[in-house]
Formats: sequence, C-alpha cells, structure tokens
Amino acid sequence: MPFTLAHLSDIHLAPLPAVHVLDLCSKRITGYLNWQRKRRSVHERAVLDRMIADVSAQAPDHVAVTGDIANIGLEAEYAPGRAVLDSLGTPATVSFVPGNHDIYVAESIGFADRAWGDFMRGDGGEGFPYLKRRGPLALIGLNTGVPTPPFQATGTLGEAQLAALGALLDRTRDEKLFRVVLIHHPPVSDSPHHKVLTDATAFMRVIAQHGAELILHGHDHLDMLNFIAGPNDARVPAVGVPSASAAPGADKANAGYHLYRIEGEAGAWRCEMVVREMEMDGVVKEVRRVTLCPSP
Ligand SMILES: [Fe+2]
Ligand SMILES: [Fe+2]
Repeated sequence: MPFTLAHLSDIHLAPLPAVHVLDLCSKRITGYLNWQRKRRSVHERAVLDRMIADVSAQAPDHVAVTGDIANIGLEAEYAPGRAVLDSLGTPATVSFVPGNHDIYVAESIGFADRAWGDFMRGDGGEGFPYLKRRGPLALIGLNTGVPTPPFQATGTLGEAQLAALGALLDRTRDEKLFRVVLIHHPPVSDSPHHKVLTDATAFMRVIAQHGAELILHGHDHLDMLNFIAGPNDARVPAVGVPSASAAPGADKANAGYHLYRIEGEAGAWRCEMVVREMEMDGVVKEVRRVTLCPSP
C-alpha cells in the first residue's frame, strides 16, 4: 500500500474578523485595504469547506499545509485557523508551516505559536526546522515567515535554519526515508522581488549538497512544478499548489490540492502526484497525474 500525503496551502481564511482601528496602525492597513479591494472576492469559506471535504474523502495518511491560513495577522484570525487545522486531523496527522500572512507583524508570532504550535513542532517537540517521521516519510518543516515592511511579502530562512536543515537531510537520508521538505515560499518563482524567498540561492545550495526527495510549497497560488539540482545529478521536484479557497475564476488558479502516493525504498522510490481542482461548476475532481519518481 502506498503512503498517501495530501498537500494544500494558502487557505486565507474568510471572512476577516472585525477590525479595530488601532489594529490598523501598522503594516496591517495595507493588507486590510488589499483584502477589502481584492482578496475578499477571491477567498471563499464555502470553497475551502468543499476542498477539505474532498481531502477527507480521499483519506490521506498525512496532510501538509504550507502556510497563509491567516490574512493580516490579527489575534482573532488564529482560533478559526486552529479549527480549520483540527478539521483536517490532529498534530499526529497534520503538519503545518507558516507563511508571510501568518507572521504578518511581530505580535503575530506569538498568536501563531499559541494557537497552532502543536501542528508546527517535530516528534521531539522541537521548533523549526522540525522533523516528523511518518511511514516511509521524513517530513521536515521550515519557517520562512518573518515580519516585513508594508508592500513586502518576502520570506527568509536564515543561516541557523539552513544549517540545521542540512544536518536533518543527512540524518534522514541515512535512515533511508523519503525526505519531504515543507516551505511556504517557493525556491523557484517568477514572482517580483518583493514576494520572493530572500535566501533561495542558499536553500538550493543545501538541496544540491544534501538532497531531498520532494519539496512542497505555497505562496504563489499556482500549480507549479520545478526541478532543483540535487547531489549526483538528482532532480528534486519542487511543487506548488493553488490557494485552497480560491473561488473558480477569481484568482490566478482555481482552488486545488495535491495527493502524493509514495512507495518503494531508498534508491527506488516511486511517487505519483494527483492534482485535484475545483471546476467552474464547483465540483472538485482529478485533473492530472504526474510521475515524479522515478524522475521524469
Ligand atoms: Fe498566500
Ligand atoms: Fe504567502
């Protein structure tokens, strides 16, 4: 039986809670105006609920959520966000890494940790980078969410996290596990400068040296597949998903998520990706299958 991993991202939970004027005396004012002008007509709770129902119906062994549950980092966004994580499973079956909208301003760090902390810690209770072993998988969670100035949506890993990532990749390679790296910001993207992973080059250097079997990301709200160089000419797939709440026709891509069916053993992994999307009529269905291992 293959191990099935579901990946969804960028929930951008709607509706936005009531906002006090004092809450907007920060970067939040730009995010609030952006929500009112654009995002609230894109991200729909009903779309998300249908997507989560479809994930549950597929009965995955584990679910990865790669950030941006919140919108402008208000305290009132984190309890409803927790309820969404709870609806997907428990910290034993769901792994979460934060995005830039979850760590929108400095005080959002504490909100996220208190409400969602057990979904973003490893088996040993450690913070980022964390490690969860599930079946043949090593799930390694990274945090790119750092508070940034207005109009900036960049992410940063930092030297300490990158060094620890290299050590974790080595250890789990030696354990012959299928290494899945969870990261909000894409390592490869066509996004403008103010939205990128600032240390993407350093991240790719770590992957080139230490390897990984699969990298899952969100942030760009698009179906994306890029290959990053690994050791010994390996090609490591880096895959992005659309927002899980994007109303059909309203965003860059309709709401969707991916399923990965993984089996085999180190040196002979098989991994098939199943792409499920919401069609214009609101029905969620499989639209594509791609074999990622052996490398296409
Ligand atoms: Fe997002
Ligand atoms: Fe993002």
